[in-house]
Amino acid sequence: MDRIVVQGGTRLTGEVAVSGSKNSTLALMAAALLADSETVLQNVPKLRDTDGMLDILRALGATAEWVESEKSTVRIDASTVSNPEAPYDLVRKMRASFLVMGPLLARFGTARVSEPGGCAIGVRPVDQHLKGFEALGGKVRLDHGYVEATSAGRLLGARVAFDINTVNGTQNVMMAATLARGETVLENAAREPEVVELAHVLIKMGADISGAGSDRIVVRGVEDLRGVKHQVAGDRIEAGTLLAAGIITQGDVRITGVDTSTLESTLDKLRDVGAELEVGSTWVRAVAAGRPRAVRVVTAPFPGYPTDMQAQLMALLSVAEGSSVVTEHVFENRFMHVPELQRLGADIALSGRSAHLRGVPRLMGAPVMATDLRASAGLIVAALAADGDTTVNRVYHIDRGYERIEEKLGGLGARIWREG
Ligand code: EPZ
Repeated sequence: MDRIVVQGGTRLTGEVAVSGSKNSTLALMAAALLADSETVLQNVPKLRDTDGMLDILRALGATAEWVESEKSTVRIDASTVSNPEAPYDLVRKMRASFLVMGPLLARFGTARVSEPGGCAIGVRPVDQHLKGFEALGGKVRLDHGYVEATSAGRLLGARVAFDINTVNGTQNVMMAATLARGETVLENAAREPEVVELAHVLIKMGADISGAGSDRIVVRGVEDLRGVKHQVAGDRIEAGTLLAAGIITQGDVRITGVDTSTLESTLDKLRDVGAELEVGSTWVRAVAAGRPRAVRVVTAPFPGYPTDMQAQLMALLSVAEGSSVVTEHVFENRFMHVPELQRLGADIALSGRSAHLRGVPRLMGAPVMATDLRASAGLIVAALAADGDTTVNRVYHIDRGYERIEEKLGGLGARIWREG
C-alpha cells in the first residue's frame, strides 16, 4: 500500500478524534528505560514510528509490546535491559531513537547509539544533546558512526545552557538529569507541550523536576524511578492538520481529543486565514467562511507557530485570496513540499527561508511525491481542494505520523483511499 489517492472537491463535515501524540509517545517510550519496573502507556498511536521505537527498546533487552486486550496501549518493562546499544539499522529509520541515550546513560552509565543521520528536512545534528551529557559528567566519543557515552559513576548535576532551542535535546538531557547526583539547571530549554508532558510523567515516576514549560528547568536527581501508567495526550499537530483539511474544503469540522491550550498559535493563524473557530478545552470546531485569506507566518519554537504545521498551512494559503509569505525558521530545508504543491498548480516562489505564495482559485489534481512526514500531510490537505484525482506516492512517510489518516478524513466525507 504505497500510495494514497484523493478525489478533491468534497466539503468535509462532521467530527473526528485525534490519536495520541506521536512526539510525546516517542519520548515517553524512551523514558520507560529509566524505570526498573513496568510502564504502561495508553492512547498510543499505531504508527511506523511508535512501532520503530518498540523495536529499539526490544533491541536493548526491554520487554516492549502492544497490549492485545487493550486498544492503543503498550507495555514496557525495562528491568531486563541488558544491552545499552541501539543499532544503526533501527536508528536510521527514526532519528528520535536518539532519545534513548539520556536514559541509558543515566541508568546504566553507558550508552551506544548510532548517530542519527540527517533527514529530508535538514542536517539535524545532536550536538546540544552531547553538550548536555558531557556537562553531566558523561564521556562522549564518536566511534565508527556510533555515539558512545559513558560515566564512571552516577552523572553529576550541572548547569546546561543550550545554544539553541531543541525539543529532543531538552528531553534527552532532562531525562539524563533525573538520576544524576545533585541539581541540574537547563537554561534556554524548549517549552513544547511534549517537554511538559514528559516532565509530568517523570515526576509521576518519582523524579524531582520544576519549571517544565518555561525556558529554565530544574532537575534534582533521585536514586531511582518506577514505572507508571499514563494516557498520552492527543496529537496537537494531527489536530491542526485535520482543521486545515476542513477549512480548505470550505467545510465544518469538529476535532476532539486534544488539549487546545497546546494549539493556540495554530488556532490564531487559522482565524487570521478566515476560519470561524469554536474552541473548547479538548475540542475545536472550524467553519470555513469563504476562500482563505492570505497571511504571513514565521515558524518558531513553542509558543510560536509550529514548524510541523508549516506545510499544512502552505497548502491552505496556496488557494487563498492574495499573496502570503511563509518563513521557515526552525529547519533549514523544510520546503520539500513546494515543488509538489507547484505540480498541483500552486504559485510559489522560494527565496532563502521564505516561500512567497500567490493564491490561485483552484488547484488541479496530479500525481505527487511525499518526501517527509509533514510534507505528505500538506499534500493531502491540498489534494482535498484540488480538481480531480491526486495520487500521493511514497505514502509510508505519512504513516510514520498519522494513524489511519484516510479513515479519519473519509469519516469527514473525503473521497480518499489507498492503492498499490
Ligand atoms: C522535534 O524534533 C520533533 N520530533 C519534530 O517533529 C519537530 O519538528 C521539532 O522537534 C521542532 O519542533 C520529535 O519530537 C520526535 P529540535 P527535534 O532539536 O527535537 C537544530 C515531526 O514531523 N538542532 O527542536 O529533533 C535542528 O537541526 C517531527 O513530527 C541542533 O542544531 O528538533 C533544528 O534545526 C519533525 N543541534 C533545530 O535545532 C541539536 O543538538 C530544532 O530542532 C539539536 C537540534
